[in-house]
Amino acid sequence: MRIGIVNGPNLRLLGRREPEIYGTATLDDICEALRTKAAELGVEVDFFQSDSEGEICAKLGDMVDQWDGVVINPAAYTHSSLAIQDALKGTRIPTVEVHLSNVFRRESIRSNMVTTAACLGVISGFGTNSYLLALEALVHFLRMYK
Ligand code: DQA
Repeated sequence: MRIGIVNGPNLRLLGRREPEIYGTATLDDICEALRTKAAELGVEVDFFQSDSEGEICAKLGDMVDQWDGVVINPAAYTHSSLAIQDALKGTRIPTVEVHLSNVFRRESIRSNMVTTAACLGVISGFGTNSYLLALEALVHFLRMYK
């Protein structure tokens, strides 16, 4: 089983980016934790980060026959991107969305979730652990229903 881990804009700045909101773990730290969790679960993980909406859509299209599932943090595109919503719906790759912060207790615009409509579910507010919980939930789903 091969899972794509997709991270959107500004997440490569994690560690130094608003640590009071996003914590001090870097994107590399999160990838390392995911690698360990993936080994425990017996799945493969591929990592992709882009600040560009178009590149994220293109990657999902390119990997449509390669990835069994996706864990995605679309970052700010969550709140605006019909293009990423369409890419997720179009590829039909089972996807779990994650957010480090609890977007629902922040500015009201962040409660507007556009990409989430194309996902199995969303985990928001647990920092690095959001990703690990999402990977577990996704693998569980794929083993049960695919
Ligand atoms: C985020 C939440 C988004 O609202 C924000 O634009 C991000 C990060 C999170 O992981 O908490 O860039 O997706």
